[in-house]
Amino acid sequence: MQTDDPGASAISLIKSEHRALGAVVHALQRFAHAVRAELAAPDFELLAAMLYYIDIFPEQFHHPKEDLHLFSALRRRTAALDHVLDALQAEHVRGEQMMRQLEKALLHYQGGAPEGLANFCANVDAYAAFTFDHMRTEEERILATASRYLTHEDWLEIDNAFRDNRDPLFGARPTEAFRLLHQRIANLVPVKLRPLFRRVDPS
Ligand SMILES: [Fe+2]
Ligand SMILES: [Fe+2]
Repeated sequence: MQTDDPGASAISLIKSEHRALGAVVHALQRFAHAVRAELAAPDFELLAAMLYYIDIFPEQFHHPKEDLHLFSALRRRTAALDHVLDALQAEHVRGEQMMRQLEKALLHYQGGAPEGLANFCANVDAYAAFTFDHMRTEEERILATASRYLTHEDWLEIDNAFRDNRDPLFGARPTEAFRLLHQRIANLVPVKLRPLFRRVDPS
């Protein structure tokens, strides 16, 4: 599907991916703390599903599209944003490392490690703060100014990339696969904690 304003369309797609990711990260954080406060029973299936989503979605789907399409187009057009783009791309690598630490912390907690839950919560908090800060920087420093530098053709390419349904990981319909995974996580959240699982803006 084409649009008259591919810039507005691409920005809206990227922001909606941020909101979908932010909702799961936020729910993970609230759920982990609810377990720690003994307001909810530990549910390792739910925790693993949340970690799976926030691992696969940004690290293997969202960030590569930013690197390959949005960031590279900006680097072609201007050097003015290089320092911000350098920092954001380094954060894409750092985010993956933090995700591995988070998975290890969950496994140790599940395995009965002393202070396992406290350590897991600390890792969740660090990952959440890092992720929200990353998305805020992208929205305020990159998306808010990118139109000064990018052409209509640049935006068309970026918009098409973020609309692309041919992601190798999820076959023909990645958006549908993510929607179902999102729904599965929502269904696993205990009823009394469902208000925590709402869409949130990264700001
Ligand atoms: Fe990013
Ligand atoms: Fe992003």
